[in-house]
Amino acid sequence: MLIAVLNGPNLNLLGIREPELYGRESLADIEERLRGVARELHVDLEFAQRNGEGELVELVQSLRGRADGALINAGAYSHSSLAIRDAFAAVQVPFVEVHLSNIFAREPERRRSTLAGHALALVCGFGARGYELALRGLVASLSSRE
Ligand code: DQA
Repeated sequence: MLIAVLNGPNLNLLGIREPELYGRESLADIEERLRGVARELHVDLEFAQRNGEGELVELVQSLRGRADGALINAGAYSHSSLAIRDAFAAVQVPFVEVHLSNIFAREPERRRSTLAGHALALVCGFGARGYELALRGLVASLSSRE
């Protein structure tokens, strides 16, 4: 089973970026932790981070017929991007939306997600650990479908 882990704008700066909100773990730390979980679950992971919306759309399109599922933290695009949502709808790859912070406890403009309506699930507010929880949930959900 192949799962893509996609991260959007500014998530390359995790660890130094607003640590009181997003924690001190870097994206590399998170990816390392996920590699360990993937070994335990016997799944393959593919990682990518992009700052541009179009680049993320291209990444999602590239999953078609290849990936069984995806985790995505689309950063600020989560609140506005119909294009990323449409790309997932087009490729029909089930995904879990991840946020480090609890977006529903933040500014009004962050309390909505354009992706969530099409997501299998949404995990937010657990910090870096949310990626691991999302991966476990996604794999369990996909395995029970097979
Ligand atoms: C975020 C929340 C977004 O509102 C913000 O723009 C981010 C990070 C999170 O993981 O909590 O870049 O997606």
